[in-house]
Amino acid sequence: MKEEASTSSTRKRRILELCREYLMPARVAAWENLGVPLVIGRREGYRIWDVDGHELLDLHLNGGTFNLGHRNPELVELLRSDLDRLDIGNHHFPSEARGELAERLARVTPGDLHYSVFVPSGSEANDLAIRVARRATGRRKTVALEAAFHGRSGLTAAAGRDDMAKYFLADYPEEFVQVPFNDLAAMEKALAAGDVAGVLMETMPATYGFAVPADGYLAGVKALCERFGTIYIADEVQTGLGRTGHMWGVEAWDVKPDILVTGKGLSGGLYPMAAIVMTPKVGAWLSDQGWGYVSTFGGSELGCRVASRVLDICSRPDVLTAVRRTASRVADGLGELCTRHPFLVGVRQKGVVIGLETAADLGGMQLSRALYRRGVWAMFSGFAPSVLQLKVGLLVDDAYCDLFLEKLDAALGDVEKEIA
Ligand SMILES: Cc1ncc(COP(=O)(O)O)c(C=O)c1O
Repeated sequence: MKEEASTSSTRKRRILELCREYLMPARVAAWENLGVPLVIGRREGYRIWDVDGHELLDLHLNGGTFNLGHRNPELVELLRSDLDRLDIGNHHFPSEARGELAERLARVTPGDLHYSVFVPSGSEANDLAIRVARRATGRRKTVALEAAFHGRSGLTAAAGRDDMAKYFLADYPEEFVQVPFNDLAAMEKALAAGDVAGVLMETMPATYGFAVPADGYLAGVKALCERFGTIYIADEVQTGLGRTGHMWGVEAWDVKPDILVTGKGLSGGLYPMAAIVMTPKVGAWLSDQGWGYVSTFGGSELGCRVASRVLDICSRPDVLTAVRRTASRVADGLGELCTRHPFLVGVRQKGVVIGLETAADLGGMQLSRALYRRGVWAMFSGFAPSVLQLKVGLLVDDAYCDLFLEKLDAALGDVEKEIA
């Protein structure tokens, strides 16, 4: 037993040193400073284990990537058997797996969304959505929220919070406009000149702590888009696939986007996959340009097979019913914790997409660390560090919910003691 423990800590030290030396020195240091020296080893369902054995309930899910759990058995079995006959495929040619995924996406997305393009990441999907909106309107400008995160690729880094675009001298201030969240007047002002190609909108801005859209806000933005000839692009990378209790977050606010962007959980946590889905009008370029956009790994046939099954699972009526039941159980638990813990000052929630507001500027970070010690991994919000993101899996059971609420209760007590 003693020997095992020392072997695992030697392994952990080696991994940390490799990553510090060759991969991510600042990131390794940041996690160590926060008191979260996590190196993920084993992973099953909604639990992960550090390579040193520390068990954690996963309430981060890497932004919903593990929406259906780590190594979901149904998806693992499908991928295993597909490996006997498929590979990535050749993206230049039609394929059964790609065609079937595109048909499914057209079927399960709102309004008349119809054509899909597949790419390997959410950033690349948003990047393409920005470009497609330009093509459809003949305009260059994109409007996004000040506190939005749409990725770190060329165009997406410049949309929303653009500090990292500036860092790499890759910001485009003439082409990207930022507006505050929940402010329809600011949106109207940004669109009024009629020169904006697309509004790129996170349905609930994730990195901003899952701020909840005010009644009528998203529908108001869509109406403004229609009035000024602008394309509404819904970034559903974190809010899609059942997480709000609806198949897509926009459905919870009754918005039919012109382009819907999905990623993360679409991969089943097993095979990189993201997509944009467009109305026939916005996707008309696909009938004009066979090679307008190409991606060797986008639409990998193995990934398409997994993603099709992910869509099947997420759209099963019993799954969405269970999500709503879980959401209500968790809401009750959090409401009760609010009455006993002054550090927990508010709860933002739609379905199992949750942000916990704390009483301190860096409270989300403090709570993240305290939870880590208590055996839960949940991440603070990068653009709103007072808020902790709590991402509950789609398929969790009651016992799991009760356990993490118990651990959250203890962690809140720890933080309150720390700051007393
Ligand atoms: C809302 C949102 N959009 C886009 C992205 C970018 O996705 P990816 O990391 O797959 O490029 C993220 C990633 O966290 C995200 O949260």
